Amino acid sequence: MVAISIEAAVANVVPSWFMNNHRLRLIKPGDEATSAAELSEPRFWARLDLPGVDLAIDVQTLTPQVSSVPRLFLLVALVFLAGMFAALVALRRDFSKRQRIEAQLQAQVALRKAMENAVTVGLRAWDLEGRILYVNHAFCHLVGFDAHELLGRSAPLPYWPTAQTDELNTVHRDLIAQGTKDAGVEVQFQHKNGRLVDVLIHEAPLLDTHNTQLGWMSSVIDISERKRNQAMAAKQQERLEASGRLVAMGEVASTLAHELNQPLGALSGFANGLLNRLRGGRIAIEDIAPVVERMDALSDKAGRIIQRVNAFARRLEMSRQRVELGQFVRETVANARMGSNVKLHIKPQGHTMWVEADPLLLEHAISNVVRNASDWAQRGAFAPRISIAFVLEREADTPRVGIVIGDNGPGVPEQEMGDIFNAFHTNKPEGMGMGLAICRSVMEAHHGSVDVAADPALGGAQFTLWLPLLSPTSGRATAAAQP
Ligand SMILES: Nc1ncnc2c1ncn2[C@@H]1O[C@H](COP(=O)(O)OP(=O)(O)OP(=O)(O)O)[C@@H](O)[C@H]1O
Ligand SMILES: [Mg+2]
Repeated sequence: MVAISIEAAVANVVPSWFMNNHRLRLIKPGDEATSAAELSEPRFWARLDLPGVDLAIDVQTLTPQVSSVPRLFLLVALVFLAGMFAALVALRRDFSKRQRIEAQLQAQVALRKAMENAVTVGLRAWDLEGRILYVNHAFCHLVGFDAHELLGRSAPLPYWPTAQTDELNTVHRDLIAQGTKDAGVEVQFQHKNGRLVDVLIHEAPLLDTHNTQLGWMSSVIDISERKRNQAMAAKQQERLEASGRLVAMGEVASTLAHELNQPLGALSGFANGLLNRLRGGRIAIEDIAPVVERMDALSDKAGRIIQRVNAFARRLEMSRQRVELGQFVRETVANARMGSNVKLHIKPQGHTMWVEADPLLLEHAISNVVRNASDWAQRGAFAPRISIAFVLEREADTPRVGIVIGDNGPGVPEQEMGDIFNAFHTNKPEGMGMGLAICRSVMEAHHGSVDVAADPALGGAQFTLWLPLLSPTSGRATAAAQP
């Protein structure tokens, strides 16, 4: 028989951690809770079913003593937590704002990059020591070097043609010292593949935000194509001028032939006549002199023609004189070779008409038109007639006088009126087509003109030779240089 202490047995059985917040008590029937505190605690009560013992076990749960310190801590922690939460929200907001700005910046950078790549003008930046800071895509394309081959480089630059290094060094120094003027600077670069490229450079100061100059920003344009076109145009112009000179030479030769035809023809007529009469012994010695004098005058005229045509063709000088047109035309017509059957009427003009002209040239112009009128009047259906009249335009801005020469020939067809003044345009089998071309050049050299119409009275052609009119009192006989 063993005696067991119930209290010790219970204490052994119940784990210590349980005892931390419970209190066990063995109670006998009749034991009641004593204090009010005990009664307020949650408790559990169980009867120990042991023989001979009437015991119960009372388990009381102990409410831990809550101190105010942890609560304070909790409160502070909560406040911190709230603060942290608020900070997190603010951080998140800031973060998304940054993300937005970063996206915008990236878009802008991408746009700038795209723009920079799309630009066809070569861009180059360099510092004040002449070291390359930046080159764009177009510049690299222009010279055939990659950006990394150029950045940081200074003179002599790899795209300088070796033969021009000295010249480019001077240009380079000037560019760094003072940039470029409005027109820019034209130089040659050499592409990596050896091809020479003509470029036009403009420099602008490269400034920082405080307006301090960091260096220069150059825009470089490839002008090779333009240069090529210019060279081609110059070559074409040269060829054109050469062929123009040939045409002019042809015109001079034709003009000479045309104008010399008449005196030479007459000269040969006189010489033949004289020879025939000498051979036939039908001429007295005193009759020879006047014929030879006429021949001398004709050869003299031929010489003067050559001189004048030569001077006129080279646009050197004209012997301008004050000429009274009425008298001058009458004399010219009297000397012109016209058919003997042609009836000529010169309408008298009541007053004098002064012009400034080279008499020999003006005589050529008038006699060409009169000879044409005579030729064509003789080809018409009626007895050949020519009329000469004057028309005055005193009130015009530049007062002028026209010599109007009409005939009763077939006239000039409307569609030909624009062409008959061109050199070598002729409808005469024996003609050269130079008469009217010479006439127009002479009139233009006198600041005048010539035009053609149908003659309203005679029905044939009507040519009007216009000259600026001098006031009756102004000017004297002059010999002015022709530009
Ligand atoms: N009075 C006129 N009536 C009709 N046609 C004319 C008259 N004058 C000129 N023409 C036309 O103008 C053309 C050119 O005249 P132009 O005097 O330049 O040369 P051309 O008389 O033919 O030859 P040339 O060089 O020997 O004078 C003539 O061939 C003719 O067709
Ligand atoms: Mg003619």
